[in-house]
Amino acid sequence: MCGIVGYIGGQEASPIIIEGLRKLEYRGYDSAGICTLNGGAPQIRRAEGKLINLEKILTTTPALGTRGIGHTRWATHGRPSEINAHPHKADGIVVVHNGIIENYLKLKEQLVEAGHQFSSETDTEIIAHLIDEHYRRCGDFEEAVRSALRQVKGAYAVAIVCQQEPDKLIAAKFGSPLVVGQGQGEYLVASDIPAMLSHTREMIFLEDGEVAVFTPEKMWVTDLQGTLLEKQSKTITWSPLMAEKGGFKHFMLKEIYEQPRALADTMAGRLQLDEGDVFLEDLNLTAEDLAGLDKIFVIACGTSWHAGLVGKFYLEKLARIPVEIDIASEFRYRDPIVAANSLTVLISQSGETADTLAALREAKSKGGKTLCICNVVDSSIARESDAVIYTHAGPEIGVASTKAFTTQLVALYLLALKLGRVRGQLSAAGCQQKITDLLTLPRKVEEVLELDGSIENIAKNYMNARDFLYLGRGNQYPIALEGALKLKEISYIHAEGYPAGEMKHGPIALIDENLPVVVLVPQNATYDKVVSNMQEVCARGGIVIAITSGTDERLRQQVSALIQVPELDDDLMPILTSIPIQLLAYHVAVLKGTDVDQPRNLAKSVTVE
Ligand code: G6P
Repeated sequence: MCGIVGYIGGQEASPIIIEGLRKLEYRGYDSAGICTLNGGAPQIRRAEGKLINLEKILTTTPALGTRGIGHTRWATHGRPSEINAHPHKADGIVVVHNGIIENYLKLKEQLVEAGHQFSSETDTEIIAHLIDEHYRRCGDFEEAVRSALRQVKGAYAVAIVCQQEPDKLIAAKFGSPLVVGQGQGEYLVASDIPAMLSHTREMIFLEDGEVAVFTPEKMWVTDLQGTLLEKQSKTITWSPLMAEKGGFKHFMLKEIYEQPRALADTMAGRLQLDEGDVFLEDLNLTAEDLAGLDKIFVIACGTSWHAGLVGKFYLEKLARIPVEIDIASEFRYRDPIVAANSLTVLISQSGETADTLAALREAKSKGGKTLCICNVVDSSIARESDAVIYTHAGPEIGVASTKAFTTQLVALYLLALKLGRVRGQLSAAGCQQKITDLLTLPRKVEEVLELDGSIENIAKNYMNARDFLYLGRGNQYPIALEGALKLKEISYIHAEGYPAGEMKHGPIALIDENLPVVVLVPQNATYDKVVSNMQEVCARGGIVIAITSGTDERLRQQVSALIQVPELDDDLMPILTSIPIQLLAYHVAVLKGTDVDQPRNLAKSVTVE
């Protein structure tokens, strides 16, 4: 995720900003930039790649001044490049931004009509031009920022300077984090606490819709209408490492908790509720291409492959296209039959997995169209695919994938809705209903996260088991596989995922009073069947940990532990049941004392065969 640092005070701003940005490097980024004010025109320096590239530029052409803003960019709109790197400027207004502006296309059209010219592919540049447009009319920096932000829809954290009013720095947020640091005769602002800890531990946390205005001596906060608000500072006692993890013990836990926001970001700007349709911005395939498809291949590795297994349900159900799913390392060597009117969907968090990249090339060489679902803009797989749907999960640092997985499921769902509409399999009203359900997902994930304490207790009871079995049917079977994989990866306990109905053909022989069996049993068409499978385990003295949305008292009485998730449309239920299986694996691993974020022998991105 992008990083923001701003400074206003008595010292040279640029070394302080660079030091702050370095503390945010762990968040991942692909370009960086800075702007300082020193009396004349804003001094903007930007560079693609790592901070060191920006520092080299600053050595030869320093950016001087005691006010400034800086940014590390993780691309969401527009590829990583110097042109797209922040800060972005419109006349005397300079902006750095984290988040996604949902109505940027509409705003851009209006601004182009008003004579504004754009030089980047970013949504951020729109903010700079919008503020500039208001500034030309009202001649007041503060008022111009508030007026512009009232027009913006989506998530943002921004820091802004203005050439004409160099003694002010303005910061504001909605949906993306932003914190103010209060020093002696100076203020800092940053997207995350670690960027400021070496300067101050006095922090003021901004809330959504708040605008903070700083001079070196004082600061005030208003709402978007300009009403003054009272704010209290807090003293932060975290160690620098704790601060990097946002106060969470591990990156994995932080990323599990980031899911409501990551899921919302992946939907942002793509749901057209009124029309009952979905807009996918980098889908370079015509409606004709999509309507003419007669087969879809879904190819991935590891956790992304599990997402693909759920995707098969989505695509076949909503778009009625046959889907063949393959593990990338198998697909690439099996001489697959890829017809010209097929679409190969590659799923990869990193966009760099060697087997998935090779599978993409194999599919292309055989003439089919390709689309990737990817979390890293301009990664190899994204560049080589005909079309892309980016998941907006933000960088995932924990090796065990969590938020990347659930956002992949949302992306697959959006693709299935789009194909369903184009191919006439889904009515506008039907799509509206699906979108309405999808919009409730982030809140329901938050509800499941509240079960964390009780899931930790379950982990305490079963952490010493030698093996675990995970059972699910239909679209919950891939979640059983993912549950087993998560547990294996981070706790080193042997675990297997199995289709619940298949248990009687083998794994049933393993059942005894020492084997915890996690059963995914949401209230759906196969509920009674899964309950029967579960009873087969109970009858043999097995331990059942049920994850259910039902309130069936019979179930409660039979199982050893029960995790109750809220009701939700069955298509989206795999996203909800993913959360308890992540938390269960996490707590077992923590209790066993393993290296949760960097488990032995595993790599985050496997770029070798
Ligand atoms: C590695 C990671 C997994 C990931 C898999 C595929 O094995 O440890 O977490 O699921 O690669 O990675 P990708 O980046 O292609 O999704």
